[in-house]
Amino acid sequence: MTTFWTFLTYTFFLFDLSLATKSLVPRVLHGLHAHAARQTHSLARDLRVAFGGILAPRALAEQNVVYCKSAKQVPLSGGSLGNASASAPAPTGGGGASQSTTSTSAKAGPSSTAPSSSPWKLLNSYQGSSFFDGWDFFTDPDPTEGNVQYVDQQTAASSGLLEINSQGNAVMRVETTPVVSGNRKSIRITTQTQFTGGLVIMDAVHMPTGCGTWPAFWTNGPNWPAGGEIDIVEGVGDYTNNQATIHTNIGCTLASSSRSVLDISGSVVGGTDCAAATTNNEGCGIRAATNNSFGAGFNSNGGGVYAMKWDSTGIAVYFFARGSVPTDITAGAPQPDSWGTALARWPAASCDPFKFFTDHNAIFDTTLCGQWAGAVWDTAGIPGQEQSCSQRTGVSTCQAFVQANGAAMQEAYWEVRSVQIYQT
Ligand SMILES: *[C@@H]1O[C@H](CO)[C@@H](O)[C@H](O)[C@H]1NC(C)=O
Ligand SMILES: *[C@@H]1O[C@H](CO)[C@@H](O)[C@H](O)[C@H]1NC(C)=O
Repeated sequence: MTTFWTFLTYTFFLFDLSLATKSLVPRVLHGLHAHAARQTHSLARDLRVAFGGILAPRALAEQNVVYCKSAKQVPLSGGSLGNASASAPAPTGGGGASQSTTSTSAKAGPSSTAPSSSPWKLLNSYQGSSFFDGWDFFTDPDPTEGNVQYVDQQTAASSGLLEINSQGNAVMRVETTPVVSGNRKSIRITTQTQFTGGLVIMDAVHMPTGCGTWPAFWTNGPNWPAGGEIDIVEGVGDYTNNQATIHTNIGCTLASSSRSVLDISGSVVGGTDCAAATTNNEGCGIRAATNNSFGAGFNSNGGGVYAMKWDSTGIAVYFFARGSVPTDITAGAPQPDSWGTALARWPAASCDPFKFFTDHNAIFDTTLCGQWAGAVWDTAGIPGQEQSCSQRTGVSTCQAFVQANGAAMQEAYWEVRSVQIYQT
């Protein structure tokens, strides 16, 4: 116990220190890197090599860096992320048509009095044997430079990476071949349905964890960052506390970094400016206070339910550990007004949710190493990650570890009970 509290105190000390004195040098370098990533892939890599020595020690420099999935997608994929699915007209019933209804949502005030009815109507449900219907399998090179090769549905199934298990849950794995010389096969899927405004509820019993992993469940709009990005579940390595983040065009902010003002249970990990362009793509992230919200802590508790609510009041992310999932959710009649304090919230007053966010698709992925898990390989002192992965594994780089240790990828899997998308 003493050790635990010492660790906690140390962690918070480091955290406060880095918040207060966040060094200019790493910020500038990070900016250079982000800028370079916008220009060319190889220049970014060259810069990282050139500045690798200067970036150390990373424990302080990177503690509060909020990485995002799509910052680097724009330049590296040359627009293929948007491709047909993002630029095509929204499929049946989804998409833009909902905007006006949603912005006049009943949620604007304390309304719902009938406990058994919900203003939220089911738009899409993914569960059971048909879970994977309605998702596109992304097969481009990982835009975040991870050591994965995203595979199509047939390849995933024939490689044993994808299944509906005997519980009826959707399983998405990473290749566990003992040694690989290149990338490990993995899965990244995107809903065909798009939505503007909505309530996304994801129930999982297991998520990827372990040194080298970087899983996420997130939503994303077209023309990043114009369409906005909402990272609902994200983290790396052995982290146990989830980080929810938004990335936007210039003009969206958090009005405060105070937990009580925002009425959240998490804590703001970086700044209050959510714009990608003015924060070196960091956006504004909020870290959960509880260690059952991500990784091994989440898994050992049987997982739980994440809900992301996007309505006229703003954007909020809720987490319910297994055993504390509200009955209105399990009954399929969600009543967000009854859920209490959100993990994270970005209120509409300082970030118009229908100006900075539009036409989102939901996405699951698991990458390895790359621009977050690889970059913090030597970092310690994050909840769940008392020791760095380099200390923990004895291997000096993320890539070398991941290539040579397939057995360590046994826990790098999503097991998802359902995803439900509701609109008003
Ligand atoms: C879009 O992606 C599909 C595969 O999902 C591919 O066949 C097609 O060529 C891509 N189109 C463009 C314009 O990139
Ligand atoms: C979570 O934190 C508690 C102390 O609050 C600790 O006993 C427990 O081991 C932690 N669990 C994980 C998975 O880190």
